[in-house]
Amino acid sequence: MTTSLDRSSASAPEPRSDAGSRFPVDFLWGVATSAYQIEGAAFEDGRTASIWDTFSRVPGAVHAGDNGDVACDHYHRMPEDVDLIAGLGVDSYRFSLSWPRIQPGGRGAVNQRGIAFYDRLVDRLLERGVLPWVTLYHWDLPQELEDAGGWPARDTAYRFADFAEIAMNRLGDRVRWWTTLNEPWCSAVLGYDTGRHAPGRQDFGDSMAAVHHLLLGHGLATQRLREAAPEPIQVGITLNTTHALPATDSDADRAAARRADGFGTRIYTDPLVLGSYPTDVVDELSARGVHLPVQHGDLSVIAQPLDFLGVNYYTSHYFSGTAEDDSGVEATADGVALTRLVPQGYPVTAMDWEITPFGLTGMLTRLGADYPGIPLYVTENGAAFDDAPDQDGEVEDADRTAYFAEHIEAVAAARDAGTDVRGYFAWSLLDNFEWSYGYDKRFGIVHVDYETQKRTVKQSGRWFRDNIRRSRQG
Ligand code: NOJ
Repeated sequence: MTTSLDRSSASAPEPRSDAGSRFPVDFLWGVATSAYQIEGAAFEDGRTASIWDTFSRVPGAVHAGDNGDVACDHYHRMPEDVDLIAGLGVDSYRFSLSWPRIQPGGRGAVNQRGIAFYDRLVDRLLERGVLPWVTLYHWDLPQELEDAGGWPARDTAYRFADFAEIAMNRLGDRVRWWTTLNEPWCSAVLGYDTGRHAPGRQDFGDSMAAVHHLLLGHGLATQRLREAAPEPIQVGITLNTTHALPATDSDADRAAARRADGFGTRIYTDPLVLGSYPTDVVDELSARGVHLPVQHGDLSVIAQPLDFLGVNYYTSHYFSGTAEDDSGVEATADGVALTRLVPQGYPVTAMDWEITPFGLTGMLTRLGADYPGIPLYVTENGAAFDDAPDQDGEVEDADRTAYFAEHIEAVAAARDAGTDVRGYFAWSLLDNFEWSYGYDKRFGIVHVDYETQKRTVKQSGRWFRDNIRRSRQG
């Protein structure tokens, strides 16, 4: 089997793609990051601990004991980083707000020094002609809210709505694009069921309660954002929908894929768009003695009209209902095997994620068909590879460049099929703190030397810039 790494060599030609020219001039091109992954300055200017500050200090929780104390030191290097973003020629920069920096402890007064950072960031982006795209929650829950119950507790949803209003009151005169949550599946399942992410709890029932309260928080926050907005805004949510495929055509494998789709996609998209949880998921939960803590009126709060749906896509998954090999089984904390993953032998990234660009076309067209009328944005797509500067200081990441070229082609294919996809954000601007993998995995189109904090635009970053130029030329 050829691995994607085989394609990477100093002599590999820069992948060509005319994908850029297949997009309209108003297609939105961007780069994305999140607060905990890049900011550092973890305890400066009044910021308090988030669940990731706590979790990353638990022995064994994060690769090499890494944490976000310094990260890319973006908090101190923001002006230069914005210059870097502008130099890439993107239309938009998607970043998240650190809740414990803006509202320490997750409730009460605003920390003026904390929110001033985002004021400066937004101003600088606008000065450089880059649209700010704000994500309110990218996983850094204030630790004090976790201590009070975290996302399994209903009150956290109300606290999140208050935080959304604070952000709107301060930034709403200049920020038009708002995402409430990033990948609630990760917050709920990795955070409260498998425990691989902060806060590291392992209780299946709690994780399902977290799903509901995250969605409720989204709905409440969306209402508050719209009420408080001084200008017309665009509000949506970003999901990592599971592109679930059957390993074979057998009935058992089809059922396994359908089930994975229920827990990975429809449990989010159905309440958000249709105002109801999928019955197959609810039935399975009841059979396991788990009930989503839905109160009267919650579903209409959750189903606020969406101005857009953000889709984060990295890979596709193939599911088996009968696989005997246990290596791909992902069990929930109550011991039930939720999914049986079957690798297909495609080339993989450094995360061991199979490279399946066709799945991005599939995911987008499926969402467009099942939930029509909602513009889609690819709010993250990208790949980790083990790249390093060569003797000339250049990073020739042909693998990542090829990954982008193929996936941008896949977006073009979805558009050709009539799906309303309006933008694409590369993940990520910078190499950064890759959660439980620490600094070991590099997703940046800009290399970061963590010793010196030197930034070096990789070949993929130059390709991405050129691709945007091609799209401007029609
Ligand atoms: C999705 C998450 O939003 C982001 O934080 C993470 O770094 C990437 N996936 C890559 O795993």
